[in-house]
Amino acid sequence: MPLLEVEDLSIDLGDFHLRGINLEVERNDYLTVIGPTGAGKSVLLEAIAGFYPLRSGRVILDGRDVTNLPPEKRGISIVYQDFVLFPHLSVFENIAFGLRKVERNEERIKSEVEHIAEELRIDHLLHRKPGTLSGGEQQRVAIARALVVRPKVLLMDEPFSALDEKTREKLRSLVKKVIGEHGTTVIHVTHDFEDVFTLAKHVAVMRNGRLVQFGTPEEVFSRPNDEFIADFVGTNLLRGKAEGRRDGLTAIRVGNVVLYTVDEAEGEVTLSLRPEEVILAREPGECSAQNVLPVEVTGMERRGHLVWLSLAADGLSLRAVVTPNAVELLKIRPGKRFYALFKASALRVVK
Ligand SMILES: Nc1ncnc2c1ncn2[C@@H]1O[C@H](COP(=O)(O)OP(=O)(O)OP(=O)(O)O)[C@@H](O)[C@H]1O
Ligand SMILES: [Mg+2]
Repeated sequence: MPLLEVEDLSIDLGDFHLRGINLEVERNDYLTVIGPTGAGKSVLLEAIAGFYPLRSGRVILDGRDVTNLPPEKRGISIVYQDFVLFPHLSVFENIAFGLRKVERNEERIKSEVEHIAEELRIDHLLHRKPGTLSGGEQQRVAIARALVVRPKVLLMDEPFSALDEKTREKLRSLVKKVIGEHGTTVIHVTHDFEDVFTLAKHVAVMRNGRLVQFGTPEEVFSRPNDEFIADFVGTNLLRGKAEGRRDGLTAIRVGNVVLYTVDEAEGEVTLSLRPEEVILAREPGECSAQNVLPVEVTGMERRGHLVWLSLAADGLSLRAVVTPNAVELLKIRPGKRFYALFKASALRVVK
């Protein structure tokens, strides 16, 4: 039995409608929710937490229908993007806040707060006021406060997005460790695919108030349901025609070039290629990649700590992701020509 079931959930919020959401989250699952701004990700989280009246549908938590329970009775904790802490309370009292509602024993409160603070490495800050802490420290306090009550489900709405890159990376791995040790079930809304790749067991994609794809990161990123999702997650979708097997690989004509995939295919096919799988080289040289294409750089965009490239080959275009180091090393600029290399195993047949 799943820990959390969302059945046919619909909500009306002014002009916005969340429609027919069906979702199952297993115990110990880590679900990330992605989608463009305004898709309804935050509304979905808050609906699960119990902040909105439903138009229709049910929320079942741990075998119990909680649809009509107020938020505080659901056993759910929520962590927001901006560190919402009580400024006049110490870090200790901030973490103890929710726990005091269910636990009266002062000794036990003290030991639970100290324990979670130690795990999140904020035990040296317990006497301080939130205003004197860095963003990363404040967010660790918010996560400690959410975890200390041992929620059935932890909801996080872009918990790392207000942090700088280094702090975000550190906190991401710390959260992964602590949540793994606690066996907490998590639903985490994010715009950062790094969160998906490092934390998620499952991904839900939302668009216009609907859930448009659910699966493992591998499924969603390699086999997006449609063009919109492919575009959103940055996966290259290429359309071509299978031309038979050669040396254990399938040859596929795409535009004016022939590409090779390890998958079997016949007739018209759609192929996917993750941008991380594309390597740029000055010379084609000798290498193990089965696909080597001359390309021209047509666009560059810095996103997070990576650089996304648009590449034009003969009759097809590709997206690739490289590091700023690679950009410097190869002097990658729009208008320059390179070779794009990728393995036959990186090119997947979608349908
Ligand atoms: N209380 C409300 N009343 C009316 N409309 C609302 C309310 N809350 C949210 N909305 C609208 O619902 C839509 C979905 O909002 P939501 O905050 O869930 O988007 P999101 O997917 O979380 O976007 P972002 O990535 O920007 O955080 C938006 O168009 C928003 O304006
Ligand atoms: Mg949001």
